[in-house]
Amino acid sequence: MSIRPSVDPPVRWNAPHAVSAAAWRVRPMQVGDLVAVALEESRIYPFPWTIGNFSDSLKAGYDAWVFEDDAGLIGYAVMMWIPDEVHLLNLSVAATHQQRGFGRAMLRWLCGEAGRGGAKALTLEVRPSNDPARQLYASEGFAQIGIRKRYYPSFNRTREDALVLRVPIEPGDPYGEADR
Ligand SMILES: CC(C)(COP(=O)(O)OP(=O)(O)OC[C@H]1O[C@@H](n2cnc3c(N)ncnc32)[C@H](O)[C@@H]1OP(=O)(O)O)[C@@H](O)C(=O)NCCC(=O)NCCS
Repeated sequence: MSIRPSVDPPVRWNAPHAVSAAAWRVRPMQVGDLVAVALEESRIYPFPWTIGNFSDSLKAGYDAWVFEDDAGLIGYAVMMWIPDEVHLLNLSVAATHQQRGFGRAMLRWLCGEAGRGGAKALTLEVRPSNDPARQLYASEGFAQIGIRKRYYPSFNRTREDALVLRVPIEPGDPYGEADR
């Protein structure tokens, strides 16, 4: 049985709980988005995914989403479906849009998408040093379920551990449907 969601793009997404009166669109990432996405990625991560990483994600059939408004890119996300769960591989808000509620709203939409597709949980990895992301995930109910030693590249040729976080997904549509 397929648990992949079936969403006909583009989807209008109004997220008044996140940014008042903001109208967003969320749609599947396409090959034509890769340059802009990889450029933004290089702005916001010291160890960014390459354009090849994003391209490989599309080729692998992962769900990759672009969040935008009429002015352009707000953020993007990549998630991988595994039986009964979704693993969030990338969640990023454009540098110019951070700390305005978009990250939380995107995460909630992604949890909703996971729920609509039948996932029972969403998991992800995060750097222990990434305080903004850790605070966001903690406030959304994520709990640590493991640690991957020396998972991420770091400065001076060192490695940084990854914390593995998980949040249960309620059956159906915990977030987002009412906003679409
Ligand atoms: C982490 C990230 C996704 C958060 O998105 P955002 O749109 O900036 O965050 P929001 O405005 O939605 O804020 C949500 C919560 O995140 C936390 N947060 C966001 N920015 C923060 C900061 N600079 N310092 C501390 N906490 C922060 C807060 O808990 C905040 O809740 P609050 O506003 O009630 O205090 C975004 O900053 C980002 O893309 N960072 C770079 C890429 C990255 O690290 N991605 C996650 C990889 S696991």
